[in-house]
Amino acid sequence: MKEEDKRVAEEILNVNYAGEYGACNLYKSQIFIAKIFHKDLLEMLFQIEKDEILHCKIFKHEMKKYNMVPCRLTWIWGVAGLMLGFATALLGKRALLLGVSAAEITAHRHLESQIHFLKNRDNDLSKVIFDVNVHEKNHSTLADEQLAEKGLSNLEKIFHETLCKICNLTMWVVTRGESKKLDKFLENNMKI
Ligand SMILES: [Fe+2]
Ligand SMILES: [Fe+2]
Repeated sequence: MKEEDKRVAEEILNVNYAGEYGACNLYKSQIFIAKIFHKDLLEMLFQIEKDEILHCKIFKHEMKKYNMVPCRLTWIWGVAGLMLGFATALLGKRALLLGVSAAEITAHRHLESQIHFLKNRDNDLSKVIFDVNVHEKNHSTLADEQLAEKGLSNLEKIFHETLCKICNLTMWVVTRGESKKLDKFLENNMKI
C-alpha cells in the first residue's frame, strides 16, 4: 500500500471510530429519555445501539491492524453525541427521530466514499466498512419510515439540515480539520 493511501486509511479509521463512539453516546442518552417519554421507540433504539457498540469494536479492531490507538480528542465526539441525544429526545418524538436520521445519513454519506476509495487499496477494510454501512442505512430507514407517517414540515427540514451540519462540524473539530480534507480527497479520487 502506498504511503499516501495508508495515511488516508488511518484517517478513515480515526474518523469512523470517533463517529461510532459518538453514536453510542447519542443512543445511550436518547434511550435514557425514551425510557420516560417515548417508550414506543425503545425497541428501535436498543437495536441501533447494539449495532453501534459492535461498530465501535470493529473499528477499534481494524485500528490495531494499522498499529493505531483512538485519537485523544475522541471524547469531544462522545460529549457531542450525549448532548445531541438528550436535546433531540427532550424536544419530542419527531425531534428524536430527526436526530437519528441526521446522524445516520451523515454517517453513510461518509462511508460510501470510503468504501469506494479503499477498493483495491485495502479490500478487507473496504468490505468491513461496506458491512457497517448496511447497518447505518438500515438505521436511517428505521427513523425515516416513522417520520414519513407525516410529511416533514419546513421547520423539521431546517432542523434536520442543522443536525447534519452539527455532526459534520463535530467531526471536523475532533479530527482537527482532517475530516474535511478527507472528504475533499475522497471526492477527487471518486472520479478516477
Ligand atoms: Fe455505526
Ligand atoms: Fe448507525
